[in-house]
Amino acid sequence: MKRILIILFIILSVGCTDKVNYIDNPNDKLALVNKKNKLKKNFIPKDLIKLDLNYSHDEKYLKKEAALSFYELSKAARKKGYIILAVSGYRSYTYQKKLYKYYVKEKGSYYASKCSALPGHSEHQTGLALDVEGSNKDYNKFEETKEFKWMIKNCYKYGFILRYPKGKENITGFKYEPWHYRYVGKKASKYIYKHNLTLEEYIK
Ligand code: DAL
Ligand code: ZN
Repeated sequence: MKRILIILFIILSVGCTDKVNYIDNPNDKLALVNKKNKLKKNFIPKDLIKLDLNYSHDEKYLKKEAALSFYELSKAARKKGYIILAVSGYRSYTYQKKLYKYYVKEKGSYYASKCSALPGHSEHQTGLALDVEGSNKDYNKFEETKEFKWMIKNCYKYGFILRYPKGKENITGFKYEPWHYRYVGKKASKYIYKHNLTLEEYIK
């Protein structure tokens, strides 16, 4: 009887598509963090650096490679007269937990699940993702800025992708976020941009 129950449990577990996996390459620039793939609570990325205040609203951190590429992006934008600053970068598991709770309290759990990741499920914990603001100094209204128009056409040249695009909510699991960009490196960003993909579709 016990053996039958164990076999039944294994069959049901394999058949369950909502299984959550721990990410085994959290320092890789292609690490896929989403509702199905999570980071360990104690994971802190290697090579985090504090962003230069010329490129950041206040004290924010990113992995070095992502930070240096963001500086290049921001410098190129500045040459056109646009100001693009980071307003959020690396976020710890504990900070993400507080943030999620805040959204649940303010907006309810359904809305929270669409706009904020559970702790361990946010790619901000990788140090490879950032939220930006433009000339209107309101990341929530970044879509209305000329910086946004420049960003969506040019960020791939610096290794970044718009991580939560409009119309792909069923794939990413999150609502459209015009302000959230993810560093994946230039090879992947060019391919993702050219083929209009999400990171989920690229990794598959
Ligand atoms: N807003 C994104 C999904 C996050 O919380 O990581
Ligand atoms: Zn974000």
